[in-house]
Amino acid sequence: MLTKPSVPGVAIKSAVPIHCDVHSRRFHRRYENIQIETFGHQTRKVDPIEVDASSLTSGTSLVVTWRDKRVVVRHRTEKEGKDGEAVNLADLKDPIARNANLPADAPATDANRAAPGKEAWIVMVQICTHLGCIPVGQEGDAGGWLCPCHGSQYDGAGRIRKGPAPENMAVPVFQFIPNTKIRIG
Ligand code: FES
Repeated sequence: MLTKPSVPGVAIKSAVPIHCDVHSRRFHRRYENIQIETFGHQTRKVDPIEVDASSLTSGTSLVVTWRDKRVVVRHRTEKEGKDGEAVNLADLKDPIARNANLPADAPATDANRAAPGKEAWIVMVQICTHLGCIPVGQEGDAGGWLCPCHGSQYDGAGRIRKGPAPENMAVPVFQFIPNTKIRIG
């Protein structure tokens, strides 16, 4: 287990564990530094958790810990949303939404990766579905997340687009209460 290093200019209240048996501490430091844009942090052992996302402007993200998993909340840009909607479902490696708020066979449309009426927001377990590394946000060719371990690339809705990962990253049970506060679990 590695822990998040200090990042100049970014206030980090506590460490987030990073699980990876593949890479060195130095390797993960490099990528974690890239990933942080707006880093709000909250670690709770309770379930569900409530996340105040009111500070997230378009194009920023925060990370919380829920059930010992890293969950990213991203307020997507307009471009990210449009790019996601434009994806042909036939091109998806995993056609299932993997959204715990929807039926198990719901298709992986961009809208089905978000909450109704809140399509600009992605709430997702930020763990690669290949071997469990932590993908880096807003990296890679697919416009979303890049897993540094073996090169899996996810789009802006967290859908797997390239590489060995078999599934889209999981969307947990969540709901907005009512606007920019999010209950996860
Ligand atoms: S763990 Fe992410 S690509 Fe292998």
